[in-house]
Amino acid sequence: MRLLVTGAAGFIGANFVHHVLGDAGQGDVARLVGVDLLTYAGNFANLRGCEGDERFRFVRADVADRPAMAALVAAERIDAVAHFAAESHVDRSIEDHAPFLHTNVHGVLSLLEAVRERPGVTRFLHVSTDEVYGSIAAGRVDESAPTRASSPYAASKAAADAFVQAYGTTYGVPVVITRACNNYGPLQFPEKLIPVFVIGALEGEPLPLYGDGLHVRDWIHVEDHCRALWHVLRLPGADGGTFNVSAHEERPNRQVADEILAAVGAPASLLRRVADRPGHDRRYAIDATRLRNTGWQPRWSFADGLAATVAWYRDNRTWWDAVRSGVYRQYYEHMYGDRLRASDPAATGGRA
Ligand code: NAD
Ligand code: DAU
Repeated sequence: MRLLVTGAAGFIGANFVHHVLGDAGQGDVARLVGVDLLTYAGNFANLRGCEGDERFRFVRADVADRPAMAALVAAERIDAVAHFAAESHVDRSIEDHAPFLHTNVHGVLSLLEAVRERPGVTRFLHVSTDEVYGSIAAGRVDESAPTRASSPYAASKAAADAFVQAYGTTYGVPVVITRACNNYGPLQFPEKLIPVFVIGALEGEPLPLYGDGLHVRDWIHVEDHCRALWHVLRLPGADGGTFNVSAHEERPNRQVADEILAAVGAPASLLRRVADRPGHDRRYAIDATRLRNTGWQPRWSFADGLAATVAWYRDNRTWWDAVRSGVYRQYYEHMYGDRLRASDPAATGGRA
């Protein structure tokens, strides 16, 4: 396989590159080209250890640059694509939709065009999200549920999914879509709930819980997600298919916060109840039976995965010290400053 991985320096993309260049891809991968624009979320340090691997090449480029993507796919004789590159944070999409339209929609179109011109490509894996289904009142939804995006981020991902499906139908591009639930684990940029709260708890900083904290998310360890993606990338007969990816581990944010406080050994008094996110989806819960029926299953329980994640952040202060410097401070103040100053303590499990 000669594999193109976009968004290779991001959280999930980098974990996937390490997974595939490690034991998982031994004997299967002749070439892995990682593409990333290195935006605020992309971090070349996430790929540490790959530089010495002769199968690996890193290219800094914008996935929405059509000539660049077409040239790269042709020059590297790419035969499979795993497309991760995206603007991925809901809160940022509420502030400004423009980069989401650019990367998430124009980016996927640019890659689909590059692949359409190259019949040798046998799989285009589009890494999507359960957020395209919108809030799920009860039960778990399978892949037949309609898309009902709530945030500009989710709308951009749903639009991308629609283009991917259309290129499969119209041009016969061998597309597969995966829709995963919330990921956590090593290398996650501290703008998402778990790294914000783990690092905050380690530092004794206030932890900003949105609204009543009873919003439910469905959590999967990034390693289980990467194993699912590697499995789907090589799954025979999957062209045109969509697969939900979930460990079926849902819980309200307040419970996640309590579990983080307990794992770090930090006091509940750090929790602050802050103004809610506009359009905040109340609950995500997807049914991954279709994927499980093809032979994949998660290995991490949330309890073990969270403990390992807390240990990783505790042991890798240099990594997060670097990403939290400079412009991140401005982001943090912009996103949380006023909200935290106006916040109330969030009563949780009664620990003080
Ligand atoms: P991330 O924000 O950590 O990483 C995104 C990467 O894409 C970064 O390295 C960034 O530099 C790169 N990028 C952004 N714009 C680019 C552009 N125009 N050209 C090239 N590279 C660009 O995101 P993540 O959490 O690793 O998510 C990866 C993918 O998985 C996304 O498509 C996201 O929608 C999807 N997803 C994420 C989760 C989750 O919980 N994090 C869950 C389901 C699906
Ligand atoms: O469901 C999959 C999606 O999960 C991915 O597609 C997205 O890329 C990823 O960012 C994530 O989206 P969420 O909006 O669910 O993740 P986030 O970590 O931003 O928020 C998780 C929950 O925690 C959500 O209910 C909002 C809440 N939250 C978040 C932050 C950052 C807080 O209460 N406080 C916070 O500071």
